[in-house]
Amino acid sequence: MSIPLQPVRGTRDVIGEEVLQFEMIQSVARSIAERYGFTPMLTPIFEFTEVFKRSLGDTSDVVTKEMYSFETKGGDHITLRPEFTAQIVRAVISSGLTQSLPLKLYTAGPLFRYERPEKGRYRQFSQINFELMGVAEPLADIEIIALAQHILDAIGAKEITLELNSLGDHETRTRYRTALVAYLKDFAHVLSEDSKTRLTRNPMRILDSKDEEDQKILQNAPSISDYYTQEAKTFLIKVCEGLSQLGIAYTHNTKLVRGLDYYCHTAFEFTSSVFGVSKAILAGGRYDGLMPMMGGPEMPAIGFAGGIERLMAVSSKTVNMPRPIAIIPIGGEAETLALTLTQQLRNDGFRIELGYSGNVGKRLKRAHKANAELAIIFGEDEIKALSVTVRHLDHQKEERIALDQLQDFLRKIV
Ligand code: HAM
Repeated sequence: MSIPLQPVRGTRDVIGEEVLQFEMIQSVARSIAERYGFTPMLTPIFEFTEVFKRSLGDTSDVVTKEMYSFETKGGDHITLRPEFTAQIVRAVISSGLTQSLPLKLYTAGPLFRYERPEKGRYRQFSQINFELMGVAEPLADIEIIALAQHILDAIGAKEITLELNSLGDHETRTRYRTALVAYLKDFAHVLSEDSKTRLTRNPMRILDSKDEEDQKILQNAPSISDYYTQEAKTFLIKVCEGLSQLGIAYTHNTKLVRGLDYYCHTAFEFTSSVFGVSKAILAGGRYDGLMPMMGGPEMPAIGFAGGIERLMAVSSKTVNMPRPIAIIPIGGEAETLALTLTQQLRNDGFRIELGYSGNVGKRLKRAHKANAELAIIFGEDEIKALSVTVRHLDHQKEERIALDQLQDFLRKIV
């Protein structure tokens, strides 16, 4: 059997300027993380399966359908991380970091979900991810959303809407779940298959259904906003007031429930329609119950993650490959000198393309192809005069530059 040459479905190779764009998103996020006082963190790409299974929700799509799980030769059950939050909570507990609050952690890296691939959806994708732990006040929610908005502004994100909801506290959700099930029970026979299953196992996730019939039924469903406890209502109002104070526009979407089970109170998604259909670019929320659920102490927390590939797609900030300088020696002596000159200029920080072989014409052609800005050309004449000819490849102007002036000259231009 021949070697398959296609990348595995849902994965892709990234090359050239796209890599720079990818790194730009990471570096913008990193520098904004520093401004908000976040500490960088790196975590393993795989974890014990239980870390995700128990925390993300038994009935969540990620756990039921999307995890890349396997048994190791040693008999351990391992999963390639489908998200960061559960593993960061695991890491915080296992490193004893729960003593030093508040904790602000930033990370980025690849994740794996066995989803149906389409535009903007991959099986291996990457996120930038922020977690703020140990703060129960709505100020944390406001700061986290402001941070997310800051990143989107910094990359010039296009066509972005912020959708916000509150999933309330435990009492809110218990009361709302009862009301929702009572309403949906009458439509149980016409609900989609997925929603039928969710009706008994996780009814609030039905609100997220993309099925048209489900959507029609949901139009008259009770709204969570009618079931908030006073505490949940006050919390939401404070978050909304803070966002307004900072001039962050949002729409209140009472059907926003998020796909992972650990959320409470604030849930939010920055969405964009650049993919044709609206897709979440950056999303998160509060998860006060996750830490104790995983065996740690009580600890309020909130965070978000942005899909790097999706952030790249909405960004209007472009990064171009830096333009090189081509070295074009003419003749044997010049060839030898070219090697030293190239090394000196690279040591000085210039980006140099050494044409390797061929006559002047061929090397110039290659220099144009490499998008070189300048060509440094030298043969016998130039060597005798301890100088080089510098050709500006955009407008073909040439000038003679003394070798000992070359570095200064290039520094001024490039
Ligand atoms: P999530 O909504 O599952 O949340 O993912 C966050 C973002 O990751 C999405 O908005 C999207 O941009 C990107 N994303 C998710 N799946 C894919 C995919 N298959 N292909 C490309 N991009 C994708 C979380 O992961 C939570 N852990 C966020 C969080 C952090 N909540 C609290 N802290």
